[in-house]
Formats: sequence, structure tokens, C-alpha cells
Amino acid sequence: MPVEPHDPCVLDSVRPLRWQGTSLDVLDQRRLPHETAWLHCADAEAVAAAIRALAVRGAPAIGIAAAYGAVLAARSGDFAGCVARLRAARPTAVNLMWALDRMSACAASGADAGRLLEEARAIEAEDLAANHAMGRLGAALLEQGAGVLTHCNTGALATAGFGTALGVIRAGVAGGLIARVYAGETRPWLQGARLTAWELQQDGIAATLIADSAAAALMRSGTVQWVIVGADRIAANGDVANKIGTYALALAARHHGVRFMVVAPVSSVDMAARSGDDIEIELRDPEEILSCGGRRMAPMGVAAWNPVFDVTPAALIDVLVTERGVLQQPDAAGMRRQFGAMHA
Ligand code: MRU
Repeated sequence: MPVEPHDPCVLDSVRPLRWQGTSLDVLDQRRLPHETAWLHCADAEAVAAAIRALAVRGAPAIGIAAAYGAVLAARSGDFAGCVARLRAARPTAVNLMWALDRMSACAASGADAGRLLEEARAIEAEDLAANHAMGRLGAALLEQGAGVLTHCNTGALATAGFGTALGVIRAGVAGGLIARVYAGETRPWLQGARLTAWELQQDGIAATLIADSAAAALMRSGTVQWVIVGADRIAANGDVANKIGTYALALAARHHGVRFMVVAPVSSVDMAARSGDDIEIELRDPEEILSCGGRRMAPMGVAAWNPVFDVTPAALIDVLVTERGVLQQPDAAGMRRQFGAMHA
């Protein structure tokens, strides 16, 4: 089928979640790229476990999964308890709390199970629409023939579809603007190597994988003009929490004159966090670093520190793209203008 260059809906075949009427099926991202297996979640506890174990991951996808988890929670007779356990599944991506607050407000207004399902479906549909809008806005900033580097997986797998940073890349490729796509492997969980490389391959987008430690050398070579990443939480001063390694990319990009774009829906903005210092950074099992693919790499007895997100200061970000528009050089004043009053 011919590709329509300006249609952002092209090149988007992967979906991470399937609502099945009485359960949520989750494309098990732990098993990609070798297997496409669906994990059946029949109750809210199973959805919380899938989020904790990274069977579903990526800030918007976590929020959407939790919204469907809340629908299952309403059928359990312990809505509040189930929602509290969903909320505690992971700490950094604010989309999780945002989606559960929305579902809880809906329940508190007396919504029945059918109305709660409509709300979860709306959260999912709005995310897909936001991604298409951000794809258009972000791609419009790219120059013809651009080389881009991305980090982690911010694509359809991490969202309702199309993706945030990867949505801009999809739109840029569809529009013939992007000449080269590089993806960092994203140690230790390998979201770049396992997920982004797979997802782009499904849609026929050529990408070159690099070791995370090759990023500065790639920038120095002059091959990439943009680093394009997503976000798990954006603070009121424009600081961005995202996958570990994002901060190092921003530092290297500034040094080499490579522009740095963050792409995230408004549901990732947390105006109650005054700066990145207010964002809880998830620490995961050191085993994720000490082993690779189930095989021990480091000698026994060695310690490991495994923060899975870091904070990129707003001053290192050239442009923030949300579905509300493009914010150049995000700072507290710009964030307030675009997203409302700061939390007291
Ligand atoms: O630990 P993960 O895989 O959930 O981390 C995902 C990221 O850091 C993404 O960059 C972020 O959630 C944006 S996804 C559109």
C-alpha cells in the first residue's frame, strides 16, 4: 500500500493493550522481540502486577492500563483498595496517578461500570489523538534530511498508539524529512534494542542501533541534528524525568550543538512538582544490571545501583512538544503560561 507522506496514521501497526470486555490483555513487552505473547489480566491485581513487572511500560500506556484496571476494580467490590495498589505499582510516571485520579473522580460522581469503561476508552482515544497532534507539531520543527537519535521506547508500545517522541519520528519519516534514525539500546532493560528496534521494523522504518555509550561519538560525527525523547513526568519549571541516560544525552547534545526535543502529552505534566527534585525516581532490582538476558555478567558479591529514570534540567531542553503546542526553551514562566498556575 502506498504511503501517504503527510498522513500521520501511516506506519503504525502495533498496539500494547486490548480490552476484552471482562479483562485486559497486555502485549507482554518482557518477551519482545522474540515472542508476541498476550498476558491476560482478569482483575485489577493482575494489571498492577503487569505494570510492576514491565509487561506494560511507558508512561501513557501505564496510565491507560491502570484506567482499564480501575474498570476491573469497580467490579471487585474494593474499588479504593485496588486503585491504591494500581497507584503504587510504579512511582515516576505521573500518567499513572493522572489516569487513576480521573477514574476515581468518575467513580465518585456515581458512575456505573459502563460509564467507567467509557472513561477508560476516552483516556485511550485522547492519548492517540494527542500523539498524532504532537507528531505533526514536532515533525514541523525538523529540517529536510535530519538525522535523529532517540532513547528508550516512546512508540506505540508505550502509548495508545503512534507514540510521543517516536510519533514525531514516524511523522518525520512519513513526511520525507528524516534521513536517519538512531536508537540507543537503553541499558539495562534494553527498551531501545528490544522494543524500539522491533516496533520500527514492524512498520518498515529503518533504524540503526547504538550502544548508549556511543551517543556522544555519534553527535560529534555530525550525523544527528536532533535528540528526540519522551517524558515520564515534567515538573513546573520544565525539568523532565525520563529513562535513565536521558540527562547524559542532553549534556552531550548541548556540547555538540545538537538540538534536544522532549515530546509528551499534557498527562505527563505535573505542575505540583516544583522541580525535578520533587520527582520520585524509581530504583529497581540491582539484578537488572548484574545480569543480562538471565545470564549473570558481573562477579558474585558486586553491588549495583539501578535508578531507572533521571532528571534533565529544563535549561538543557531546546523544545517541549505537547498536544497544546510547542514551548521553546521551557522554563517556569513558559510552563505556567501553557499549563496553568503553579502548585502553592
Ligand atoms: O521504564 P519504562 O520503560 O516504563 O520507561 C519508559 C520511558 O522512560 C519513556 O521514555 C517514557 O515513559 C515516555 S513513553 C511515551
